[in-house]
Amino acid sequence: MLTVEENDLITKTGPETPMGGLFRRFWLPVLLADELPGPDSPPVRVEVLGERLVAFKDTEGRIGFLDRRCPHRQVDLFWGRNEEGGLRCVYHGWKFDVDGSCLDIPNALEGETFRDKIKTFAAYPGLEAGGLVWVYMGPKALKPELPGMEWLRLPPSHRYVSKIMLRANYLQLMEGDMDSSHVGFLHSKADGGYGATELQSRLQQQMFVDKMPRWELKPTDYGIMLGARREGDNGEASWRVNQWLMPSFTMIAAKPGAPPLIQLRIPVDDENSMFIRVVWHPTRPLSDKEMYQYRDAGIFFPELIPGTFTPKENMDNDYLMDRAMQRSYSFTGIKSIPAQDFAVQENQGGGPLMDRSNEHLVSSDTAIINVRRRLIQTAINLQEGQEPLEPVGVAAANVRAVDIALGSDEVVWDGAREYLEARSW
Ligand SMILES: [Fe+2]
Repeated sequence: MLTVEENDLITKTGPETPMGGLFRRFWLPVLLADELPGPDSPPVRVEVLGERLVAFKDTEGRIGFLDRRCPHRQVDLFWGRNEEGGLRCVYHGWKFDVDGSCLDIPNALEGETFRDKIKTFAAYPGLEAGGLVWVYMGPKALKPELPGMEWLRLPPSHRYVSKIMLRANYLQLMEGDMDSSHVGFLHSKADGGYGATELQSRLQQQMFVDKMPRWELKPTDYGIMLGARREGDNGEASWRVNQWLMPSFTMIAAKPGAPPLIQLRIPVDDENSMFIRVVWHPTRPLSDKEMYQYRDAGIFFPELIPGTFTPKENMDNDYLMDRAMQRSYSFTGIKSIPAQDFAVQENQGGGPLMDRSNEHLVSSDTAIINVRRRLIQTAINLQEGQEPLEPVGVAAANVRAVDIALGSDEVVWDGAREYLEARSW
């Protein structure tokens, strides 16, 4: 449970908010790379951390994010012409480069000299990596390196990157990533058992047998390692260790040899978020079968409304919930695994921004409680002038999450150690 004040602090990420300040210390992925396909391609609207931006790739391939309001009379630069090294406003032809500097004021006699005094309201640097376009919205002098995760260094054939827009605060979505105990219920069969869908081979059978995970947590330079233990067969302990990276990235445990997975939760504003998910293989291209499963089957990745990032199973149609299916086959009656999560997350607390002063947490919520504490404390420290060290930690975080069986008395951090680093299986 959080106080109303703590809940405000951790959920609100607009300009001048404490958590907004913390998010602005990190590179954030906001576009699929193919949304900015090439030099001088059409500009794209981006809303992130409550700011309305336009992204464009200029003639030389540099990427910039500008405040959408033209500094002249605030016309939307999204309508602009992306040409010859800048974005030109269609209202009076004022032109800006990726740094937000004004290159041309062609409608006034004083334009030649006045343009040096003009900048866009905001201009943020952008970079392309890992099939995504990233933005850094913080102080220029504190700009960190990009995250050090292995999938950012792989060729496109080795990964599948997807993006979905959801109607909920980022924290509602992210808390699902560290809520191990929900899997054995929300994603189970009607009788609570394993395997409601073919793709549940990704999910660990033990989550549907022992429904009360016990937690071991370990703070790191970049976030927290979240170990959930269940009793396994033959006296073994069955562990799922997720990796939470500040501010809102979670690597989800996968068995050694199975493609790793990360979920990135990016605030659009306080009531909307981007859900970016990357699946990859560290040493080979994803196979046709894997791509079919991850992209097309409608189970692991939901079908989208064509031309949008909105799932077909969404709030407006009750996620296409089928009560007959719920009675006979699956615990929820909702087809795709992600949509099962969307249904609970988007409506948590009755809306897009839940009040966490009205909840009753139990021991299975230990990971959620600790991640919240770390975020709140880091944001408060920053507000008091202490810069976070996590951006540097994230830039060095060459890590993985793992799903593994260990001896009953084995310390998880010893037994799982080699699997928590990103190296060959
Ligand atoms: Fe889930």
